[in-house]
This record gives sequence, structure tokens and C-alpha cells, in this order.
Amino acid sequence: MTIERVQAESLEQLRQRTSSKWRTFDADVLPLPVAEMDVPIPAVIKTVLREAIEHNDIGYPRGTAEIGAAFAAFARERWGWDAPVGTLVPTTDVGVGIVELLRRLIEPGDGVIVTTPVYPPFWTLPPEAGATLVPVPLAGDIDAGWSLDLAAIDAALAAGARVVLLCHPHNPVGRVHRPAELAELAEIADRHGATVISDEIHAPLTFAEAEFVPFLAVSETARRVGVAITSASKAWNLAGLKFAFLLSASPEGDALLASLPEAVGSRVSILGLKAQVEAFRAGGPWLDGAIELLDANRVLLGELLAAHLPEARYRAPEASYLAWVDLSAYGLGDDPAERILAEARVAFGSGITFAPDAGIGHVRINFGTSPEILTEAIERVAALLNRERAAAEAGDGSRA
Ligand SMILES: Cc1ncc(COP(=O)(O)O)c(C=O)c1O
Repeated sequence: MTIERVQAESLEQLRQRTSSKWRTFDADVLPLPVAEMDVPIPAVIKTVLREAIEHNDIGYPRGTAEIGAAFAAFARERWGWDAPVGTLVPTTDVGVGIVELLRRLIEPGDGVIVTTPVYPPFWTLPPEAGATLVPVPLAGDIDAGWSLDLAAIDAALAAGARVVLLCHPHNPVGRVHRPAELAELAEIADRHGATVISDEIHAPLTFAEAEFVPFLAVSETARRVGVAITSASKAWNLAGLKFAFLLSASPEGDALLASLPEAVGSRVSILGLKAQVEAFRAGGPWLDGAIELLDANRVLLGELLAAHLPEARYRAPEASYLAWVDLSAYGLGDDPAERILAEARVAFGSGITFAPDAGIGHVRINFGTSPEILTEAIERVAALLNRERAAAEAGDGSRA
């Protein structure tokens, strides 16, 4: 197996980027929230994009055969899955795909289940489609690990919710849901006549110890009740090119995708399409290099926390580059990210945007960066806490 070496860019290079991650904060802040990686994109993708521009081939896109073939080959090789690419429907991004699906699946006010803490747009996408949000907390915790609370999902569906919006692998806890759990979820959804939308955008970044099984691969029932949505945009860092796609694997799912307005599929970017065809077709060695970098960084993060923030609670994710870290022991308030940004000049994802209750005292750290930036970020937070401690001790001393 060939592995391409993937290294994050230097801070100086990164500061020249104009994406939201690099524009949102002042220049002295290390930004580790927004889910994009600080690595250069694969050379093969740069070539495809350059050629498109060179040949003035940047009109409206047409056709799904190439993306279907590229994804099918990738899914077969990585997950042993014969992906049902015959009915693939492109969409601008995962967010738009979810809203468009929900518009077909629900009546205004119907419940949509999200398993919290979860990717903040999952709190806003269902309401955008007219749904009522039904948060169901994940079972477990940082020490025990998490799982889907199937009994609570069952109860929420029994109470009338129509859709389960699944995050698989899960952002922010990095859990790759187990096939038996997913098969049970499918049975539960089937009993209630509900639909499961499985967002699998982080799947290509699954680490070696976990096995990613696509929702549509777990059972006949899952194929009947489910549709999947995915994109190469997280794994190959292509979010700005705006391309994602939906998949179904049963007459029911196919009918749902066929009911989407034609415009959903045609509003995508030809550059996004070309880049993603190339990512799935020839981006394997780069992907493995990225996974190697992220694997080392998730270990490094554990070491840095143990050395500098020993009371932080962290469980290494099974996929992707996001870490859910409990800092509540440090007394930085409900939203430690706020104080850390203001006083340590490091931006983390704010835990309460992932769950207003379970996210209290938590941050999400994007470790898709260089070991140097990650180290500096944790050291800055440690320095803030040391200052706090020294000030508290001095205060105690003066009272004594
Ligand atoms: C679970 C999940 N879905 C979707 C997205 C974003 O996808 P898109 O930009 O295609 O909407 C993200 C980005 O972090 C994510 O974590």
C-alpha cells in the first residue's frame, strides 16, 4: 500500500488562507474550531482543478456516472460495500441535502431526532425544513464510551417523531456506530414507519481499530428505512468546492430521492464534482497519509492533555479529527471556549453549541493541524490555567 506523506502547513502559510477558519479570529489566535484541516489538498486534485481552468471547463455540470463509479470503487475497496450508486443524487453540500430530504419526509412541526451532543447545524437544519427538533442524548460518557440510546429513540419515535438524523461517524465524539446497533435502529425505525438519514461524511477518516459499516450495508431493513448522504469534502478538505451526494438502496429510498426537485441535483459545482471524482478515484494514498497524521495527533493530544491539563477528560475518537474534551474540572464556566479564546488566544468549538446541557464545560478541539500548532494551543491553555491558579493562591495567601 502506498502512503503519501501528509503534513500540515506552517502557521505563516495558513494565515494566508481566506477560509472562515482563518478569517474569523484575530491574527494572534490559534484557530482550532471549524472542521477543515490545515493540510494541503492532494496533488492529484490540484491537477484536475488546474486542468479544468486551463481548458475553460467550468460550466454547469452534468452526469453522475463518473462520481458513481469512483465512489463505488472506493466503497468496495475500503468497506467491502457495493454502494448503490445507480440512484446517486448530487447536492450542493450535506446541509442542503438534509434539508431537502426533510422537506419531502415531514409535515411542518413533525419531530426529527438528533443524537446529542452533535454537530451544531443538526440543531438548525431540521427547523429550517419546518421540523421540531427532538434531541436524544447519546448513551454513555467519555469514560465508558458512547452508543446510540436505542430505547430513547424508540420512545421518541413512539411519541411521533418521523425521522432520525444519524451522524455516523459521530461529530463531536468520534464514535463509529456498531453494525448491530445500526441494525437495531433500522428495526426500530421500521416499526414506527420512520426514516433514517445517515450522514456519513467523516467515514473515509475512520482509524484502523474501528470498522465503519455504512448504514445502508447493515441490513435489508436499513436499506428500506434509510438514505445516506456523504461527500469527499471532509476527508480530502474540499468544503469550499460545494459537492455532496445522496444514496438509496431500496424502492422506498429510491422513490424518496426521485421525489427531490431536479434542481437539487443540478445546483452543484463542476469543480466540486471533478475534485470528488478524483478524490475517490486516486486520493487513497493521500487519505492514508492524512489518517496517519491524524492518528499521531490524536495520541499527541492525549499526551499533551495528560502532561498539561491532567484534569481534562478526553477519549480518542475512532474517526476524523475532532476531539470532545471535558474541561469542567477547571472551573472556566459553562463555556470554557469563551474564556480560552479571550485569555489564551486559542479558538476551540464551544461545547454548548453541540448540546446546551451535556456540552457544559466541554470544548471540541480540531486536531487536523500540525503537532506544533496543537502543542502550542494546549500549552497556551495550560499557561492560562497556571495564571488562574497562581492568582487564586495569591488570593488565598492574602486572606490567610
Ligand atoms: C457530521 C457533519 N456533516 C456535515 C458537515 C458539513 O458538510 P457540508 O459542508 O457538506 O454541509 C460536517 C462538517 O463538519 C459534519 O461534521
